[in-house]
Amino acid sequence: DPESALAPVSASDRQALAEAAELLRRGETVAFPTETVYGLGANAQSTEAVQRIFAAKGRPSDNPLIVHIADRSALEGLVTEVPPAAAALMDAYWPGPLTVVLPLRGGAVSPRVSAGLDTVGIRMPDHPVALALLTAAGCPVAAPSANRSGRPSPTTAAHVLDDLAGAVGGVLDGGAAGVGLESTVIQVLDDGKVAVLRPGGITAEQLAAVVGADAVLPPAPPVDFTAPADAVKPPASGDDAAGPDAARTDAGGSGPAPRAPGMKYAHYAPRGELRIVRASSPQAAAKAAAGLLAEAAARGETTGLLLFEEHVPLYPAGAAACTVSLGPLAGLEAAARTLYAALRRFDEAGATYILAEACPEEGLGAAVMNRLLKAAAGRVIEAGR
Ligand code: TXA
Ligand code: MG
Repeated sequence: DPESALAPVSASDRQALAEAAELLRRGETVAFPTETVYGLGANAQSTEAVQRIFAAKGRPSDNPLIVHIADRSALEGLVTEVPPAAAALMDAYWPGPLTVVLPLRGGAVSPRVSAGLDTVGIRMPDHPVALALLTAAGCPVAAPSANRSGRPSPTTAAHVLDDLAGAVGGVLDGGAAGVGLESTVIQVLDDGKVAVLRPGGITAEQLAAVVGADAVLPPAPPVDFTAPADAVKPPASGDDAAGPDAARTDAGGSGPAPRAPGMKYAHYAPRGELRIVRASSPQAAAKAAAGLLAEAAARGETTGLLLFEEHVPLYPAGAAACTVSLGPLAGLEAAARTLYAALRRFDEAGATYILAEACPEEGLGAAVMNRLLKAAAGRVIEAGR
């Protein structure tokens, strides 16, 4: 009975965990909480099981999946080598929001997991329900975010059900995800440098604290996907994305950081058209945004505004039909935690024209802006002064 299998359960429910683990062993899919976002898991060793993930999500098959483990000892069977920098980063940040791409041991997982690559991304999530499930299942679990492909990643079990009810074997409810954005994906290159393939819950600064700032290559800017031609400006340049260390790391000779295959898809999109407003000051951004929102409302759009708490007073009352604050710009943890829920709220409000404030790409801001740019399919309005 799919309805009872879908009933979310509490984190402490041993019976539910045992049933979910049994579903995984039988080759079914189970959505489960992690500290980043909810994942849709399946036995990574079974092509049939992994195929169910792609079917439920409607996910392109050239996009590899992350393999989740509960124990460092599981690494040996999955990969052929762990470079010293990778080991040091795992020591520091596992369990946690860090995925490490390593050389795949042939045959260790279904070729559907690695999408034919000779590498595999591995992560140990920092969530008691996830770790208990992985331990009980006793197999490596491939798990992308538990959303329909192209929708914002789910940070609650309710989001999972919104997208995937009836399409998955079960859902474990562990409450709202604490980090709210996906893991940082890294790969150690042949020269020992650490390439950030996807910015996420572990910041570049945290990576640098372990391996040294010179050893961290900036993420490639998210420019690969095709954006509609009207009102499009190229997204952040490599310099913007990289921050002050860009010149120094680029001079290191490793060339541009490779890109995670998944980064080319316009992900995380709300149903309305989202644009990012950038300006030389918050006041200039707010003035430009308020004007554009008024124009949009006048032509019949249902407007949405995504802003930071400090800037609320810069907008006229009722500047948009639906306004969502991401919390303070100072300390972006709340913004990371609530971004995807905010994007889903615009859908619930029926917003058709949405403007979002930009934030500096430092610390968690790199991941927040990366996801915002993808949600906006690269559409940035440069508002000037
Ligand atoms: O926080 C997370 O990482 C969540 C939770 C559920 O663990 N999972 C997640 O999975 O975000 P997914 O499938 O939505 O994103 C995986 C990303 C994609 O951008 C994919 O291209 C990249 O990791 N990736 C996976 N394996 C890779 C590999 N071997 N080489 C390069 N990139 C890889
Ligand atoms: Mg995803």
